[in-house]
Amino acid sequence: MTEPTNSVPAPFTTIAKIGDFEGQTVLLRGWLYNLRESGKLLFPIFRDGSGTIQGIVPKAAVTPEVFDAIKGLTQESSVTVTGKVRADKRAPGGYELDVENVEVIQRVPEESPFPISLKEHGTDFLMENRHLWIRTPRQAAILRIRAEIIKAARDFFDDRGFTLTDPPILTPAACEGTSTLFPVEYFGDEAYLTQSGQLYIESTALALGKVYSFGPTFRAEKSKTRRHLTEFWMVEPEVAYCDLAQLMELAEQFLSFIVDRVLSRRAADLKTIQRDTAKLEAIKAPFPRLSYDEAVAMLNDAHAKGLLEHPFEYGNDFGSPDETYISSQFDRPVMVHRYPAAVKAFYMEPDPENAKYALCVDVLAPEGYGEIIGGSQRIASYDLLKQRIEEHGLPLESFQWYLDLRRYGSVPHSGFGMGIERAVAWICGLDHVRETIPFARTLNRIYP
Ligand code: 4AD
Ligand code: MG
Repeated sequence: MTEPTNSVPAPFTTIAKIGDFEGQTVLLRGWLYNLRESGKLLFPIFRDGSGTIQGIVPKAAVTPEVFDAIKGLTQESSVTVTGKVRADKRAPGGYELDVENVEVIQRVPEESPFPISLKEHGTDFLMENRHLWIRTPRQAAILRIRAEIIKAARDFFDDRGFTLTDPPILTPAACEGTSTLFPVEYFGDEAYLTQSGQLYIESTALALGKVYSFGPTFRAEKSKTRRHLTEFWMVEPEVAYCDLAQLMELAEQFLSFIVDRVLSRRAADLKTIQRDTAKLEAIKAPFPRLSYDEAVAMLNDAHAKGLLEHPFEYGNDFGSPDETYISSQFDRPVMVHRYPAAVKAFYMEPDPENAKYALCVDVLAPEGYGEIIGGSQRIASYDLLKQRIEEHGLPLESFQWYLDLRRYGSVPHSGFGMGIERAVAWICGLDHVRETIPFARTLNRIYP
């Protein structure tokens, strides 16, 4: 490092906050994202995790050491930089940096350059280098939006009297069906990674009233779709004395809140990823409600008009193309309720008006994103719950504690789960959930 031009150390700032220092000399710590050279002028672009900024380095304005340090500097070399902040309307972030000094912390060797250049790369290559891919502005913006969505979800529940209760991850039994369990050897017994915290937060809801959980969940899904991960994060509220109608109100308030929060706090990141924010601005409660039967009528109609390839078979769960079609008919999330009980989980309360239906809801996101929330009212009757556990071939002994919730002060109660990655994919407008989480786990990827 060359002698500083003044003896007072420059104040440190992040690029995101650099506007507070207009006209001042500041210190940045980061990496070289890109470098353009034109003779006696260098234009390095620095990134620091909070954003990027272009620096200007005229040969005549800096010492030869500083000029030489930046000239030919390799992408992703780590650097600390001092320079004067100048407002520039044409700059993407509104500011540029007149570089005064630079210290190279580690220079990436020419012979083994950073593998992700600014040209296009294939998805497999990018996923193989995910640990490096996340440094690029688009991926970093998505991860910041993910963090905002998680914070918004927690704030929403924290501010409404919900208590965060953490369910176990190692569990003795299935919650969402036995076909997608990941077994774990547990001191000689078989245990499973949790598919959902629901059964456990039903018990904390009966203890604390309104609760939620937020944690990782696991499903050995053999599906290679753009919506499925084997490890994903779910936020799950559960409320005592709550019926399906109240649950749907909670879901629409929740989603409107999250979208609003991302729009107001992550505008720059939404711009970086070129999200059409007009689509998000339309997300305002109330959301349309559609019964399963009404949704089926819509699909039949679409098939008759040649808009859907396959006829829909009444009584099935919706497939991805069905969900995509239904959700693309609305400009905001649509809540499909009262599916046939036969295609849904064992714990769902039957509709008192017609026991063929379950008091459940799936929330389908617009723009063809499909299901982002699944929830229901839970069976309150001991006898019926016991019968359902048996009908589903589940081990009764593992569910005694769960049946206890119907032995001691059973009440109507309801809850839902939202997969964070599905929500991020929708809010960011992404093609695939693999970009919504730092390290996606899928059928054929567990590296890096
Ligand atoms: O609809 P699901 O299976 O519902 C439950 O697990 C309930 N026990 C939740 C509850 O009522 N507390 O899953 C809930 C959500 C889905 O809507 C989806 O957003 C997400 O979890 N999800 C997945 N996300 C990514 N990859 C997968 N394989 C997913 N499976 C479910
Ligand atoms: Mg579901």
